[in-house]
Parts: sequence; structure tokens; C-alpha cells
Amino acid sequence: MPIKFDENTRQFHLYNNDFSYIIAVYDNGSIGQLYFGEPLSPDRDHPFLAPLPFAGFSNNIRSAARFEYPCYGQGDFRLPAFKVKLADGAGVVEPRFEDYRVYAGKKALPGLPSTYTESDDEAETLEIILIDKPSHLKIILFYTIFAADACIARSVRFENFGKEKIILESAMSLSLDAPDSAWNTLAFTGSWAREFAVSDAPLHVGFQGVHSSLGVSGSTANPSLVFRRPETTERYGEAFGISLLYSGNFIACAEIDCWDIVRIRVGINPETFSWSLENSGSFDAPEAVLGWSRNGLNGLSRVFHRLFRTRLERGVWRDRERPVLLNNWEGTYFNFNEEKLLAMAKKAADMGVELFALDDGWFGKRDDDATSLGDWFPNTDKLPNGITGLAEKITAMGLKFGLWIEPEMVSEKSRLFEAHPDWAVGVPGRTRTEIRRQFVLDMGRSEVVDYLFETLSALISNAKISYIKWDMNRFITEPFSLALPPDRQGEFFHRYCLGVYSLYSRLTEAFPDILFESCASGGARFDGGILAFAPQGWLSDDTDAVQRLEIQRGASYFYPLNCIGAHISAVPNHQTGRLTSLLFRAAVAFFGDLGFELDPTKLAEEEAETVKECIAFYKERRRLFQQGVFNRLDAPPDCNTAAWMVSTEDKKSAIAAVYKLNAKPNQKPFRIKLAGLDRSKVYRVSLWEPTHRAGAPFDATDKRLNCGLRGGDELLSCGLLIDNTFFAVSITGDFYPELFLIEEAGEAC
Ligand code: GLA
Repeated sequence: MPIKFDENTRQFHLYNNDFSYIIAVYDNGSIGQLYFGEPLSPDRDHPFLAPLPFAGFSNNIRSAARFEYPCYGQGDFRLPAFKVKLADGAGVVEPRFEDYRVYAGKKALPGLPSTYTESDDEAETLEIILIDKPSHLKIILFYTIFAADACIARSVRFENFGKEKIILESAMSLSLDAPDSAWNTLAFTGSWAREFAVSDAPLHVGFQGVHSSLGVSGSTANPSLVFRRPETTERYGEAFGISLLYSGNFIACAEIDCWDIVRIRVGINPETFSWSLENSGSFDAPEAVLGWSRNGLNGLSRVFHRLFRTRLERGVWRDRERPVLLNNWEGTYFNFNEEKLLAMAKKAADMGVELFALDDGWFGKRDDDATSLGDWFPNTDKLPNGITGLAEKITAMGLKFGLWIEPEMVSEKSRLFEAHPDWAVGVPGRTRTEIRRQFVLDMGRSEVVDYLFETLSALISNAKISYIKWDMNRFITEPFSLALPPDRQGEFFHRYCLGVYSLYSRLTEAFPDILFESCASGGARFDGGILAFAPQGWLSDDTDAVQRLEIQRGASYFYPLNCIGAHISAVPNHQTGRLTSLLFRAAVAFFGDLGFELDPTKLAEEEAETVKECIAFYKERRRLFQQGVFNRLDAPPDCNTAAWMVSTEDKKSAIAAVYKLNAKPNQKPFRIKLAGLDRSKVYRVSLWEPTHRAGAPFDATDKRLNCGLRGGDELLSCGLLIDNTFFAVSITGDFYPELFLIEEAGEAC
């Protein structure tokens, strides 16, 4: 039983082998947070965790007060977990413990993405029911602890069982009072084409955090935070992480008070939110996942990767190997016709590509980004046989066919805008801000979602489509819905997000075999919410392999490799102008869902052969690359080297990648310790051969240093030796990859 309630101490203990989370019902009926972290014995109660019985606020017990879901206006002067406005304008409520329920398994969240179980023994759920009698407000706190991993999923439901309206002004998904502030916070920030930059800074007294008011979770900050002890590294130490499974405006922040208690709050951004709860109305806040690790940041990532890959991703594609695809965007941009696409597809098929994805520019009169969004019928000037005809020809080559759409948008120059100008988001009488020459459709309106579902269903049903790239290329300005009354305009953004989820769920249910890839100008909506619908996402429009090392590394703190679209593009790179070898680009893109973003007809014969070889190599190890256990490896910061690896769950085989960035002469030698291997096994280590074809002299040298039979203990505790000889910089120059192929060769004696 991983959830226990002790009637005497009134403590709930949620636990598994790796984690404990303890909640108390204080004497006045409010709910306290007592502990989370390393597992504590479930056979004892833990009264010492609540240093003083909490009955109310006074100066001398203020320091002891840590709450699960703190409220406003009653002596806890930190920011509350929620805020309401009652019919008389007051905001003070006192939700008190009423009851609880514990049951096996986990319920779905209505209209919202959530983690799930496949059988009831995988998890147990606690519902704590709180009531504020005068206002008739019921709050249900949901906690699901998973049996296999150190994580819990939390969400909150508000119910109005009275007659008067209650306005919800803020409704965090998770509030967590941690007992001390000795943590560093990692946030994942950036912008277009430089998503997932990791910022790592010690917590300090006052506020810190990230938020989005873009209408999507955004590239400026991901709805997730990591907290690590100052001494915690990738390999060792305590860390916890929080991820909000939500694709709209969010806040993820921490406040440290004068007692050094950290209050972490994660949820819908209250700056752009309010919700009216009418009589019998309810509101569900999105799910947030809290993960814990005592095995460093890699340990924390493993918790999230496993949960997200196996119990957040869903549908037939969850466990399937993802196809190697060619996307024509950087190869052609808007400038293509059927003949050109068929030539590209033919060449791609010859090289081993499995799916051809047609990107933007196939519909309406779209030859640039000025027109036609919303007109989801083929541009017959470019595609005389339509999408149906093109798909027919491409599938006849043995390829699958995929299509780009941007359903949430409308161009001013489009039939859709002519027919329904009122569907575009905007405030009447005010100028609509134009971004990328397009407007946003009001996805909170059911008729918009119905229209899109019907139009897109017809398109998809009429052609052999196996893959959809669903893009979203602008942020939302002038938020306002013509369909909402004045006092409900605060619901606009959340209703938008619910509309997106509704369309996603209708389309994925209607077309269960289609692989959906999410995109929002690259990674501007790369979050746990969208992952519940689209099991892979286009992480960034930056396809430069050197930049990708940082972006993919940043994303890897929470997101598993099989949800990361990673493409090889042409050089000079379109975003940075950088030149890197095909093998370097491949060695980076292998760590994700491999694809290509170029015109294959422009490859020289020798390059095409290399591509063929890379694809064959990837396909043989695709399950490892996409579903293996990923670990970030550490190289000394001044060595211009990046490294990571992936290994099978059973630790029988692995691939470690070491990337030299800018070459340095006379480089000091260093070692890179590996991870995800078994100390007691012997492994055969060899090098990925293509990088050595230039006849570099280090092949033999490296055999002496790293290759051959190596103990798991050596590889884990000593690591690979990297030095100038190894990289032979005068021959290999900048941006050189080395892949170490590691296979079990027996038990150590
Ligand atoms: C966005 C996407 C790109 C591409 C273009 C098409 O920028 O991130 O991959 O699909 O839109 O307009």
C-alpha cells in the first residue's frame, strides 16, 4: 500500500521504494506539507516532522507553517496557491479537511492531458477533500504516486456547490513548501532558435521563476524547473524537478521567506487568468508532476523520461520505432512543385528514408507567408494532382507520406478570413497586432474547433497520410473572444488551450495510426501537455548541429529522446552559416528521432552514400537511440567537448558520443566517465567506423586507450581517455564526433 493514513497523527504517507511524501492534517483542519524526499519507513509515524501542532497563525509558530495548498488572507503572507473572489467581493476562504479517498490507479483529467496507468497496480491515488462552508467551495487535491518511480502527479479540482458565483483568480496545480532554501534552480529559457538554454543559479531570498503570457508555453521558458543541491552533479546528489503538463500561459516560481522556507508554485499564469464557477460548476487545474532523485540530475531525468515515454505519450506510436523522415522545409521553403518533391522523395527513398513530410506552402495560394492559412485545400498550381495524387505517388515509392498544417491560424488574405473574420482573435475597434502576417483563430469557440476537425478530417481521409506536423507560428496578442461575455474574458487563454487539446484529441482518436509531431516555430510549445497528444515534437528551428548539442541537452532534463525530432540539414547551416561535416551532424541527430531537412537531390554522390550508411546505422540501433536510457556526460568545461550516451535498460549495449567543438592544439588530456552500464560486466568497445575513413592515425592509438575489452567498472569509474592524440586535431579540425559502440562481452571475472 503506497498511501497510508494514520488516524492518530493525521498524517498521509505516500511512498514507494525511492520516495516519500508526507502530508499532515493540522489541528485547525488546514493541510500541511511535512516531508518529501528519500523514503522514510512507512511502519512508523513521523510526529517530529511537525515541530508544533499547527492550530493557527501567531508570530511564534509562523516558522513552522508549511502548507500543501495555502490560502489567502489568513496570516500566511506568502503567495497563496489559489485565490477566489466571492459574490460579496471578499477573497478570504478557509478550506478545511473534510474527507479523503484512496484508490488504486489514476483518473483522467477532463479535457486536459495527464499521465495514466495501464493497470491499477501501477499507482495509487489520494484525494484530499477540503470544504469552505460559508462559500460552498469544495477543493479536491489529487496525488498519484507511481509504484515504479520517485514521482507523484498532482492536480486540483474546484467545485462550487452553492448558489452564488465564485470567481477563481488563481489556481496553482502545485504548491510545495520545501523546508530549506539550499537549492540551485535550473530553468530552461531562450527564444526562437535557441530554446532550452539552461540557467542554473542558487535560490535567494525573494522571488524567482519563469512564466509565459504568450498564449503557448513558449520558447522563452519551459514550464518546468529543476532544484538541485549546490553539490549535486549529473551523477550524484539530491535533486527534484517539477513539470507542468500544460501548453498555455504558465508560471513556475519560487519564493523564499525570512524563515528560509521555499514556496514553489506551478500552474496557469494568474496574470492572464480568471474563471467563473457558477452553481455546480467545477474547474480542473492542469496536472503537475514532481520527481525526485538521489542519483543526481541524470537520475532525475530518468524518472521523467520513463514516466513521459511510457505513461504520458499514448497511442500506437508510443512504443513504435519512429520513422526516418525527410522534411522539405529547408530544402525548398515555399519554392516547390510536384516534380521537384517527387525527385526529392525518390532520392530520399534510395538513401533509406522512410517518410516524406511536405511542409508549409502546399495549400491555398501560399507562395510565401502572407496568405492562405486556413485554406486547407491544395494549391493546384504547385500540385496539379492535389495532396491525394502526390501522396499516391510518394507511397508508390515505398515511402510514407506526411503533411504540415497550422490549424490554429488564419491569414488575412484567405477564404477562411473572408468568411469568418470574427473567428480571428482580436479586440473590436483595436488594431490586431500582426506577427508573421497571420492571425490566431479563437480556439476557445467550439464552432471553430468543429470546423477545423471536419476540414482536416476530410483532407486526411482523402489522402494516404501517415504523419502530421502541427505547427503554431505566432504568439497571441489582443486576447479577447467575441464568444465570451465581459465577465468571462479572463477565461480566454485557458479556453484557447482547451480548444487546442480538444482538436488534438478528436483528430488523434479519429486517426489513431497517424504519427503527430508538434511544432511551434520550433520548440515554443514543447511541453508535457502537448506530449500527451503528439508523441514527438520539432524541438527547434535551429538545425545547426553545434547549437543542437546545447538545445537537445537542455530538453533532455525532462523530455525523453523519442519525443525529440532531430534533423540533419545542409551546410552552410541556414541559421548560423556554420560548416560541419555530415558525420558530425548525423552523430548529433542520432540522439532523437532522426530526420533530414535538406534537398537530397543536391547531395554529391559521396555524401548520399554517407547518408545511406548513417541511416542504415541508425535503423539498426533505433530502439536504443529512441527508447534507451539517456545520460548527459561531463567533460571539463574548458575542453570544448560535449558528451552524452544512451544505453539499453538491461545495460547490455550502449553508444557514447563525444563531440569535439573548436579544436585546441596541445589539448590537456581528460577522462569522460560513462553511465548506464553494469560495473560487473565486461564490454567490447569499438569506434563508429565512418569517422575514421580519412585514414587518421589515431585508430590504433585509440585501440590502446579506449577500445577492446573494458570492464564496466573501468568505464564508469575511470572513463574514456580523451586527448589530443585521440582527437588528432591537426587532421580532424573543428567539430569532430566520435561514437563509441559498447556491447556486453560477458561477466567480469
Ligand atoms: C515554423 C516551423 C518550421 C517550418 C515553418 C513553415 O517555423 O518551425 O519547421 O515548418 O514554420 O512555415
